Amino acid sequence: MNFPEDFIFGFGTSSYQIEGATEEDGREPSIWDTFCARPGTIQDGSSGRHACDHYHRYREDAALLQSLSADAYCFSIAWPRVMKGNRINPAGFDFYSRLVDELLSRGIRPFAKLYHWDLPESLQSQGGWVSRDTSLRFADYTDQVTRVLGDRVKDWISHNEPWCAAFLGMYLGLFAPGYGTLSETLSAAHHILLSHGLAADPVRSNVTGAAYGIGPNYIPVYPASDTEGDRSAATRFDGYFNRWFFDPVFGKGYPADMVEYYKKDMPDIRDGDMERIAVPLDFLGVNYYNALVVADDPGGPLPEARSVPMEGVEKTADREIYPRGLFDTLDTIHKTYKPKNIYITENGAAFDDSEPVDGVVDDRGRRAFLRDHLAVASEALATGIPVKGFFVWSLLDNFEWASGYTLRYGVVHVNFSDQTRTVKNSGYMLRDIFRSHRLETS
Ligand code: FCB
Repeated sequence: MNFPEDFIFGFGTSSYQIEGATEEDGREPSIWDTFCARPGTIQDGSSGRHACDHYHRYREDAALLQSLSADAYCFSIAWPRVMKGNRINPAGFDFYSRLVDELLSRGIRPFAKLYHWDLPESLQSQGGWVSRDTSLRFADYTDQVTRVLGDRVKDWISHNEPWCAAFLGMYLGLFAPGYGTLSETLSAAHHILLSHGLAADPVRSNVTGAAYGIGPNYIPVYPASDTEGDRSAATRFDGYFNRWFFDPVFGKGYPADMVEYYKKDMPDIRDGDMERIAVPLDFLGVNYYNALVVADDPGGPLPEARSVPMEGVEKTADREIYPRGLFDTLDTIHKTYKPKNIYITENGAAFDDSEPVDGVVDDRGRRAFLRDHLAVASEALATGIPVKGFFVWSLLDNFEWASGYTLRYGVVHVNFSDQTRTVKNSGYMLRDIFRSHRLETS
């Protein structure tokens, strides 16, 4: 067997990418609704307004998960659906309550993410994550959510990919809210991390048997050459992307080299913040998609490390394929931070799939991609790294943020005009692996 009996296999999604129904049952606008409405932000001019209509089709989607032999499902809760300012929106909660019941009735373990980027617009207009108050509001929101769902959901993830929420959303401006200086970005990143620390208490007091974690993304970074310049560029990129988030979460504080690099843009860190952020975790979730080779780029965009193409690797529709990077990710994290348990909370690929023909989508590229990454996960496990589960991104083709519907990451094809779902061959392959806990050899 490649994976032990109790290894958890599942799929990941996020609220704004699949739910649609953005104006139903009292949902308030999120920063993604506002961002998508701004011309030029989304490649195909689309939005998550309808997405996969999962809000109405969640039963069908839960049935799909079961048919694919998923042990677990990692979804996110839309803050603007369940809260109206400081008050709760019962209709919004009702949706997640029904979803959770549906999952449990099918034997699927729910992993709930509290934040996958859809901040209520009403909070953005008060400064969003740049405002320290948003961290406190996040803890209140978590308190409400865990009061309602904590009897049935035991596994909680505070944040998905804080780097993206802060840097892609602000400094780089490619995701919502789409603006922010470096100092605002670092302050948002600090408040996101702080909110992760603050939300641990409500999770633990409202949920008996809670498991609490966070889901950052990780990119292993390799220098383009052995020169001093390229080696320090790789260290800098690693500091900017990985260590800035992982170090504080695991009690090491912000990395000194990067503190020195950011200097005047450093956020306001108050007494006790770093201890809060380093709250004990039951597990670490890590999202892995690709690695990067970087060269020194003095005076270039932050962090003055330019990525150069990897040699001899194939590509998905949007990234280089490097399964070995997953091993390096797990190995580095294991050695540096020693989390008790690790879940790979996202791994998957977009390919230019053909449309279904007689109900078949033969997505060979995605099959090979997933098989190779699963093989690396099992190898990591065999070397003693405590990998406890693997969530494939994603169950469904969905709204892929700034790329709109131009990138398909699902193992289930979605026809966005009539919402038909068609399981791709990669989905059938995973079903067999999830059932047998063995990797296909053919
Ligand atoms: C990750 C995001 C997820 C999806 C995948 C492709 O960075 O967490 O929502 O966009 O990439």
